[in-house]
Parts: sequence; C-alpha cells; structure tokens
Amino acid sequence: KLLGIDVGTGGTRAVLIDDKGRVIASRTAEHQPFASPKTGWAEQDPHDWWRACGESVRAVLVESGVTNSEIAAVGFSGQMHGAVLLDENNQVLRPSLIWCDQRTAEEARELTEQIGEKQLIEWTCNPALTNFTLTKLMWVRKHEPKLYERFRRLQLPKDYVRLRLTGEFAMDMADGSGTLLLDVARRRWSSEMANATGIDLKALPPLFESCDVCGVVSKEGAAATGLAAGTPVVAGAGDQAAGAVGLGVVSAGAVHATIGTSGVVFASTDRPAMDPLGRLHTFCHAVPGRWHVMGVTQAAGLSLRWFRDNFGTRVEDRRDPYDRLMDEAASAPPGCDGVLWAPYLMGERTPHVDPNARAALVGLAANHGRAHILRAILEGVAFSLRDSLSIFAEMGVPVSSIRLGGGGQRSPLWRQIQADVYKHKVETILVDEGAAHGAALLAGVGAKVWPTVDAACAETVQVGETIAPDLTNSAVLQQQYERYRRIYPALRSIGM
Ligand code: XUL
Repeated sequence: KLLGIDVGTGGTRAVLIDDKGRVIASRTAEHQPFASPKTGWAEQDPHDWWRACGESVRAVLVESGVTNSEIAAVGFSGQMHGAVLLDENNQVLRPSLIWCDQRTAEEARELTEQIGEKQLIEWTCNPALTNFTLTKLMWVRKHEPKLYERFRRLQLPKDYVRLRLTGEFAMDMADGSGTLLLDVARRRWSSEMANATGIDLKALPPLFESCDVCGVVSKEGAAATGLAAGTPVVAGAGDQAAGAVGLGVVSAGAVHATIGTSGVVFASTDRPAMDPLGRLHTFCHAVPGRWHVMGVTQAAGLSLRWFRDNFGTRVEDRRDPYDRLMDEAASAPPGCDGVLWAPYLMGERTPHVDPNARAALVGLAANHGRAHILRAILEGVAFSLRDSLSIFAEMGVPVSSIRLGGGGQRSPLWRQIQADVYKHKVETILVDEGAAHGAALLAGVGAKVWPTVDAACAETVQVGETIAPDLTNSAVLQQQYERYRRIYPALRSIGM
C-alpha cells in the first residue's frame, strides 16, 4: 500500500492506494482559513498543517483498516510557493506567507529592476512574480529585520510537514522551481540568484527528484501520525506537478486543463521551454529529466462560485446547486448570443500578468437573462484557458492530448464547451483524486512498486470519456474568442 499526503490551502488530504493504483480510502482534515491581516495578505501557521497531517493520516488508517506496516512508502504534494522560515533549531519564526499573498509587488519590481527580466528568465526560467517565494523572503528581510537575523533554513509548506515527519531537511525540484531561487534548466540551486539577492545558499535544502526517497518516518513522526517508524518517504512535488502525475500527464505532448478555484493549463515537456514574455511558468516536472510549462487563470471555478454566492440558484429546485446552474446554462445557445465574460475577478496571471486586471460582463441585451450570463461564465473561463494554449502554440510546445481535471470535468456541459473552445478532443480519467493520488504514485516509484513514473501512470491511470469538438459550435466559439481577446486591451484603455 502507498500513502499520498497533499498539504493544500483549505486542508490536508491523505489518500491510500494499493499497488494497482486503486484508491482504498481518503480523508481530509481542514486547515484554519488563511489570515489576511491586511488587504492582499495571506498567512497560515505551519503548525496547523502538521496538526492536519496527523489527523488526516490517522483517519485514513482507521477508515481503511490498513495496518501501518503494510505501507511501503509515503509521498507528499502541497500548495506551492509559501515561505516557511526556520531558525537554527528548526523552529518556525513566523506564520508562512502563502502562494496567494500579494504584498510583495515592490520586491518583485525591485528584483526585475536590479537583475533585469531577461537575466531572471535566463537564470531561473521565470520572471519575478509576487507569488514566488524569494519575494516573500525579501519582504520579511525588509520589514522584520530582527526576526530575519534568526532565519537559517527555508522550507516550502509540504517540506516543513515532511521535516516534522522525518526530521530531514529536503526539497524536490518541482516545488523548488516556484521559489525563483532554482536554476530550473539545470535542476540545481541558482548561485547567481542567491549571490545577487544576498540569500545564503546554506539556507536552501538539499534537492531531490520527486520520486527519490529523502528520509524515513522518525519516532516522533510515527507518534504524531500513527505511521510506522522507518517507513520510507519520497520528496514529492508541488500540487500542480503531482496533480499532473495523478492525471497521467507526464510525457512530452501530454497536457491537462484543470478547473478548480483557479484554472491551470499544464504541458509536460522534455526540455525547459521558456516564454520570453514571462506569461507562463516554466518549472521542473515531478519526472526526472522533464519539465513543464503552465498558464494560470486566477478565477476559473471561482467565477462560477462568485455567481452562485451572489445571485444564488432557484429555490424550488433541491438538487446540487452546481447541477442546477449547469442546467440553466445549457438552456442558452453556444456563443451566448454575443454575451462575453472576462474572468479577471482576482487580477490575472496568464496571459496578462496583471494583479489589477478587473472582470467584465459585456454584450447584454434586454432579452438576455441568467442563462446567458451563466453560459458566458463557462465559455469565458474556457477562453482564458485557451489563451495559455495559444501561447504554447506560439512557443512550439506540442499538444497531443488534453485531459480535464478538477471540478471543471464533472459537468458534461463544461467538458463539451472546453472541447469546442480548445478545438481539440479532451479526455477525462476514471478516478480523479488529484495531487494526493499523484504523490502516492511517486511514493510507489520510490518504493520500487513501479520502475518509473511513466510506468506508474501507464499501469494505473485509465481514460474515462473522450469528447470531440462539435464543429458548428466550435466555429461560433472561435468568433467569440476573437472578440474576447479584445476585452482586456479595451478595459485597459478605460483605466480598468
Ligand atoms: C501554482 C499555484 C497554486 C498553488 C496553490 O503556481 O500558485 O497551484 O500551488 O495550490
């Protein structure tokens, strides 16, 4: 048996699988919601992640009836980019500034001015963004200098949890890619970046490939989680790369489009493909010797949730609120009779890299109603993801298959809209258990259940449904997409 643990933002999820990749049991323990002491700030207490890890692992062991000695290995995945600052005794110095914290715009600007965007992309494959860990370290150094003097070691969220479980200081290259301190192309820490920014290389952990064993469960770790001391633990990966492993998106040409709160289009590559304009992230994949590029839509599922929370659903209907919204959306025609939604409720990463971008609903006439707006939201999110596919095409990144993941693949309507907008057939997989499942597969490679990550995916991930684009609707949506692309420049021209 294999255990995957995903240290997410909302909670920590533990998934237990067998050596055919079948899910035996899964349990989630919620985290405290992140604190936002000022607008745009987002902080979580690393001790709370460790508490949730213990709870979810104990719960999954009890639910499954599996004894801890049957577990061959443990793998981790987690929310990316968060800075966990430790002192010389591995004590947490302050709450972690997590991935969505936006307070570091000044630090990102300073880095770009000091080093230059071209040089940054050369050294790290990426531009300086507020999301990335280095900007968070720089913020603490500037605003909390006394505390920063005691800073000795940096961990990402799941690495801190693994440190508590094993006592080992480690990090994988996939998650390390989101720090802006990794030489992503050469899969090693960037001494150039460390020198230029005054970060001590000794503060950065030893690097591992995602399926490498980097420690074993310690006595203290065993007492807190119910796992057996001595169980091997692999390095794992950030949630995007681990999620891709769970979807079987591991070889060049394989792509996934996942709609959760945010939306991601992720392409596996066999070289570090870089966007000279910095609109995509170029990171190491959780597969040795492979990379990936990915574009991010900030408010994908969030657009639909925002509609539900503010405008609700019809009360007479008792079914799942999202099913009702999808039925309503299906009653509007493809192309929504011209209504368009630009989903920039939380600014936008790809392609605009603009934290101040704002959303827009345009093209309304008196005969339009809720159904048109709802369908426009589904189409608008798909247009935004298509923007990432358009950049892949510009860069020559091959796309041979597109798998759908997250909440966006549960609705037949949204699946079809995605096929029509991407003008490409899309696939679902039979069991979509997300990043924790990918982490468990990585653990299986570490434990030699499978010889490689490719073999683990080939043997366990099964395609569910394949959806072909509808050529008539695709043509209508192509016209809409061309108009959609002109919304953002138009909004900019009126100062939004
Ligand atoms: C990736 C990213 C998110 C976080 C949150 O760049 O910011 O996927 O990892 O889960």
